Amino acid sequence: MIGSGAREHAIVHSLAAEGGHVLFAAPGNPGIGALATCFDVDGADPLTVTALARTLRVDLVVIGPEVPLVAGVADALIAAGVPVFGPTAAAARLEGSKAFAKEVMAAAGVPTAEARVCATMAQVEAALAEFGAPYVVKDDGLAAGKGVVVTHDHDAALAHARSILDAPVTQPSLVVEDYLDGPEVSLFVISDGCAVVPLAPAQDFKRALDGDEGPNTGGMGAYSPLDWAPPGLVAEVIERVAQPTIDEMARRGTPFTGVLYVGLALTSRGLRVVEFNARFGDPETQVVLARLRTPLSALLHAAATGALAKLPPLDWSPDVAVNVVIAAQGYPDTPRVGDPITGIAEAEQVPGVHVLHAGTVVSTRPSSVGPTQPPENGWLSSERSERVETMSGLGCDGVRPAELLSAGGRVLSVVASGVTLNVARARAYEGARHIRLDGSHHRTDIAEKAAAGQVVIPS
Ligand code: GLY
Repeated sequence: MIGSGAREHAIVHSLAAEGGHVLFAAPGNPGIGALATCFDVDGADPLTVTALARTLRVDLVVIGPEVPLVAGVADALIAAGVPVFGPTAAAARLEGSKAFAKEVMAAAGVPTAEARVCATMAQVEAALAEFGAPYVVKDDGLAAGKGVVVTHDHDAALAHARSILDAPVTQPSLVVEDYLDGPEVSLFVISDGCAVVPLAPAQDFKRALDGDEGPNTGGMGAYSPLDWAPPGLVAEVIERVAQPTIDEMARRGTPFTGVLYVGLALTSRGLRVVEFNARFGDPETQVVLARLRTPLSALLHAAATGALAKLPPLDWSPDVAVNVVIAAQGYPDTPRVGDPITGIAEAEQVPGVHVLHAGTVVSTRPSSVGPTQPPENGWLSSERSERVETMSGLGCDGVRPAELLSAGGRVLSVVASGVTLNVARARAYEGARHIRLDGSHHRTDIAEKAAAGQVVIPS
């Protein structure tokens, strides 16, 4: 397992629950370390990962975050003959470049928002005028969850555009899009480059504060399934979005293997793709995998080895799952790190609850060291960019930590299952109440509207 967030912990949690596997992670986190042997190496370096995979003689490498994918870790593993779940760098451009994704969608006839690719402020002004408010401005490249601004404020839209175009990168560009009304859905579609297998739809909550207020984050919570979604939604996404996209990527000679994360809006004009990602979403993975009964290893290995068509239909628990993310003080702007975390064992005493680690670290330092401000963003994905310490020397070996400290923006995922959405919500929030992390915050309205039957698809 490459990566170190709650998404990767969820994957390792599912694999460990199957039994019979020997699990390794790079770099992992303290929660993953209770289930797998962790290696403090750069998971985004193709040569390092390939050498480790060979040394360990692994049967499969699963790449969690987008940065290693865009960096070509899957390419190096494929060249070395190691089965890998995750697309090549060329296929991961579906996430790595918004403009490329739009081009593929257009070629494949996939319904999405109209968009203009802009490289100058004059082009931005023209596109904003063409589409009107609310304005949607997206960084073309990977931006660790901070690349998108949706606003009614023309000046704010211009300022975000200027910050992207002024960035010290080669050929900065951005995308201005038409605004999509309607609720958003995340659907993960597993592909072996040819066949596709959808997982269950989920919804995440990207804003920091209750009521969808505050800044965008990597995601503050999720639930699955979506009882309000139209019954034919998944079949429609496969027919109109996922299969045409996979076919188009194959036609271009860059087949997509792994998970195509289809971010959708259910608008008054029908479904529209908001974005593609080339990896599992976080925090949605935590709830989707909580319900999957089919062994995850079989699914991932089949995708990696071109055998998806032979896989029996997936088996799902009828339960509902809810994930509440516990975030550090100051997240998403300036998360404070170094605060002690307690209460995980108590949270896991709540029926149906398990707690997944993201921005945590085991420290042998005396607690009097106290909180610190994080340095510049770290090395991995949207989740890992919140990570501010390495795992170096931190005993990632399953030994119960002497002291668990916060080490990133999103710190923990409290995941609960229940027979109804209300039961799962109540359990997740009861679990969250047991977590002690000074200054932490979490949303109190994850899945609240869905539980109240208030999610409306505009007509
Ligand atoms: N849930 C948003 C993401 O994973 O990008």
